[in-house]
Amino acid sequence: MTTEAARRLGLDHAIVQGPFGGGLSSPLLAASVSNLGALGSYGIEHLAPEDILKLAADIRGRTSRPFNLNLWVSVADLGGENLDEAAFERLWPLFEPYYRELGVAKPERPQRLHAPYEDQFEAMIEAAPAVFSFVFGIPTPDQLGRCKKRGILTVGTATTIPEAVALDEAGVDAIVVTGLEAGGHRVSFMESSEDSLMGTFSLTQIVAPRVKVPVIAAGGIVDARGVKAALMLGAQGVQVGTAFLACDESGASPEHRAALFSDRTIKTVLTRTYSGRLARGIRNRLADEMPTNVAPYPIQVWFLNRLKAAARAQGRTDLVSVWCGQSAPNLKHHNVPALMAELTNL
Ligand SMILES: Cc1cc2nc3c(=O)[nH]c(=O)nc-3n(C[C@H](O)[C@H](O)[C@H](O)COP(=O)(O)O)c2cc1C
Repeated sequence: MTTEAARRLGLDHAIVQGPFGGGLSSPLLAASVSNLGALGSYGIEHLAPEDILKLAADIRGRTSRPFNLNLWVSVADLGGENLDEAAFERLWPLFEPYYRELGVAKPERPQRLHAPYEDQFEAMIEAAPAVFSFVFGIPTPDQLGRCKKRGILTVGTATTIPEAVALDEAGVDAIVVTGLEAGGHRVSFMESSEDSLMGTFSLTQIVAPRVKVPVIAAGGIVDARGVKAALMLGAQGVQVGTAFLACDESGASPEHRAALFSDRTIKTVLTRTYSGRLARGIRNRLADEMPTNVAPYPIQVWFLNRLKAAARAQGRTDLVSVWCGQSAPNLKHHNVPALMAELTNL
């Protein structure tokens, strides 16, 4: 698995552990993957700038190998930039029944919904990971230039052919193409996510010969057969998400991990209900009951995130997002060494 992409990224294996936002990455997961010669990642989209530096130090305390930090270039949709008093009171009744059911008090209206991407980017540059990957857009030419100057390799993410071409023209070092099979958000940035629903199989074979840089295939890969198929279609590496999320080393709750190894994975859904942006998770009561598009991202996810701790304490997965990709029914491995042995058994 020593492809050109692996050489560029300084890896023994052309395998990227998919970054997870929202606290589901963990320093232990990232370091465990990096220590085995693949690229460990941490999704820092939810972190304040000062916490990004602490996090990088934590990972560096566990591995001396390259790792990847990941940001969302766009952190709010139209109308989701802030939550004024009137909008807060108008939206609250839609979430109130779920708060009541889980015994959670009405939250205080937030002064700020999300740290500005620009500030997070500055912290990332200071943290200087070997690799900076990003979704939901392309950093400015100045930002990409500063990464190059600091020796940070850049990896963009495409959900369509035009997005991959745009990333290539922007001069990134590698492109993750992610099919609709993937768990988590559909990270489109040129057209709506609903109009950007290509599968990993098509996206990989079409994009690979059309861009100058290595393509990393993501979405639906959980074992060596998936890795081989992606390489056969022209990818120079793979990014695996759900299968790493299911490992004990990840930041997922025990209930989330148990759900990933259950028959519930047979029914996943792509919905805006969980966050306000289109994303894939296990179909549950929340997805069935709550209308989609209640509030724009990140207002929707802000209200729902306040339920997480109570749901976790009560062992419940019916009223919170349970992120999951479509190939999860084939998951087998519960820890990073076992999963890495599987993925590299070509
Ligand atoms: C819970 C969860 C959170 C994710 N968060 C991010 C993220 O913040 N940034 C990102 O680039 N990809 C994110 N992803 C996508 C993964 O990194 C990876 O590309 C994807 O899971 C691959 O598809 P698979 O789940 O079928 O393996 C997330 C995926 C999941 C399951």
